[in-house]
Amino acid sequence: MKTFYATTPIYYVNDLPHVGHIYSTVVTDVATRYHRLIGEKTRFLTGTDEHGQNIEKAAAAQGIPPITLADRVVARYHDLWRKFDISNDDFVRTTEKRHRTGVEALIARIEAAGDFYTDRHAGWYCASCEAFYTEKEIGEEKRCPVHGTPCVWESEENIFFRLSKYAAPLLEHCEKHPEFVRPETRRAEVMSFVRGGLTDLSVSRSKVRWGIPFPGRPGQVIYVWLDALANYITALGFGSEDRRLYDEFWGNPEGRRVHFIGKDILRFHAIYWPAFLLSAGLPLPTTVWAHGWWLRDEKKMSKSVGNVVRPDGLVAEFGPDALRYFLLREMTFGQDASFSDEAFLTRFNADLANDLGNTVSRVAALLRQSFGGTPPEASDSSEIPSAFAAAQKDWRAALEEFAFNRALDAVWRLLTQINGYVVASEPWKVRKEEGASARLSRILYAAAEGVRLCAVMLFPFMPGTSRRICQMLGLPGGDPAREDLAWGRLPLGVPIPETVPLFPRADAGAYFAQKEMTMSEEKQAPATTPPSPGTTQAVSPSDNRIGIDEFQKVRLVTGRVLEADRVPGSNKLVRMNVDLGAERRQVVAGIGKQYAPEALVGRNVVVVTNLKPARLMGVVSDGMVLAATVGEAGEPVLLEVPPDVPPGSRVK
Ligand code: MSP
Repeated sequence: MKTFYATTPIYYVNDLPHVGHIYSTVVTDVATRYHRLIGEKTRFLTGTDEHGQNIEKAAAAQGIPPITLADRVVARYHDLWRKFDISNDDFVRTTEKRHRTGVEALIARIEAAGDFYTDRHAGWYCASCEAFYTEKEIGEEKRCPVHGTPCVWESEENIFFRLSKYAAPLLEHCEKHPEFVRPETRRAEVMSFVRGGLTDLSVSRSKVRWGIPFPGRPGQVIYVWLDALANYITALGFGSEDRRLYDEFWGNPEGRRVHFIGKDILRFHAIYWPAFLLSAGLPLPTTVWAHGWWLRDEKKMSKSVGNVVRPDGLVAEFGPDALRYFLLREMTFGQDASFSDEAFLTRFNADLANDLGNTVSRVAALLRQSFGGTPPEASDSSEIPSAFAAAQKDWRAALEEFAFNRALDAVWRLLTQINGYVVASEPWKVRKEEGASARLSRILYAAAEGVRLCAVMLFPFMPGTSRRICQMLGLPGGDPAREDLAWGRLPLGVPIPETVPLFPRADAGAYFAQKEMTMSEEKQAPATTPPSPGTTQAVSPSDNRIGIDEFQKVRLVTGRVLEADRVPGSNKLVRMNVDLGAERRQVVAGIGKQYAPEALVGRNVVVVTNLKPARLMGVVSDGMVLAATVGEAGEPVLLEVPPDVPPGSRVK
């Protein structure tokens, strides 16, 4: 039986998720949802990579055990995947018992093949990658090719895996199976790397403690990549007594096994992992699908570079489906793409609010006005059924190759055709002339059935939106199935609810003004800005502790408000003239919704006086008043200072 097994990389727990991680998971979700929709048996795995030096260090820096750090970040991942409607069947953590058992079983097979030996190991090491690089790769400056950070010379006694032995079989496999590494450019890259010769790989560490002990080699811990890569089979029960999932999804000769990864970890997946599997006598993945990077300012978005986008603001305002859509439409298979709010908003308005939202609303409104629900009579006598057939063919072909943006193009072409058909057949005129006639019913049936089919084809990409469109067409709930991908399944004569816009147009100007304001407020008040629920900014308030000397850099002083008025054009910002004892300052604060300016006069407040001045809606603010932020919305409540405390008193 044909099966489809898809995996994301398992994510490190020393970083909180950002757009890059979301992308890998969303593409895996779309691919799996597509295969599920066309009736295949699927399984979708994601998880976290929790061992190794980086995690050990990150936890130590926060003064907590590595497992506590891992638990916290894992909770974030669970929340995020729920929010993004990710349909994973399993979530594996490398600290789980089932994983360890599976890793040990894999190691036993490699050991039995005689592919491990002990030797002294020395080389240039990047701690962030947890990998060694050759002189050629790191150049004269000895910098990591991924992170650009300096590599260090490491030397220790390790266990080695005979990777060199697998160069020829790997090359042969790559040559025989063009689908093994995708896209083609990456396959060429892998083949040229293997042709350059493979050196044996150190697969244990003696200086790292946070990991799985290497079976039978006291003092050695399994190299984090050997440990991590095994997750793809340990989560299926490899090495356990119950191997049903393993047999169904990995051992099955008719099964497809696809690893979706970023191009940064290609070598691990297309060379090391298959070599481990060859040594263990296990089947290889059918495809390693390496996507490009989301860039910010021309650089890979990553924590170590410090340029990550955590799209909480966009998601809160426009919903997770809009981001899913943007990521899939904007990035071409295998290439890099730049992330920007501007590009997001442009696509949002053009594609979602206009093309999709307006077409759906227009058709639903016509149905309600004409029949109070779906039409009484079906039809296949327009050009829409054949437009659908063509769109479905392209959509399928694109999704079979994981060319997500091409699949979306096919749906958008159909939307345009539906729109054109509605305009050309003028149902409003027909209604005026003939009332709710059979002809009107047939016209609107073709349009509505076309829209329904768009919703089904959109389901893998935007499940929530697809469900909403189906509801707008009076369809019963539940995820679509293979049969729903055929013309003629729109129910006749059923009532439909009042139309609500799917994607109300975004006011880009207002969005950026609001964002600028929030950013300057955040810059001014980092300590009082709580992470909103489900956001991904901080692990917990206690994680990033600072020393007293750092705290003392912040100059906090009591002040008395002498004058207060609203910043013109803003209902949130209030400008205050504050007496700080030795001086007076103009301070702007975002408290206008909670406090009337007149009620502020005479009040004692706490002011941060050594912040760089900021401009808020054109008005200079030379300081920041402190407020507690209360509730989910973070409503500001000014800190109280008793009236007898004179202005200018230092707060410590
Ligand atoms: N733990 C390893 C993977 C082990 S898999 C057996 C790891 N983890 S990670 O947390 O760093 O996540 C890496 C993956 O996140 C990348 O391979 C990629 O899939 C995704 N991305 C992280 N940053 C990215 C971008 N800026 N752009 C696109 N995806 C990137 O590596």
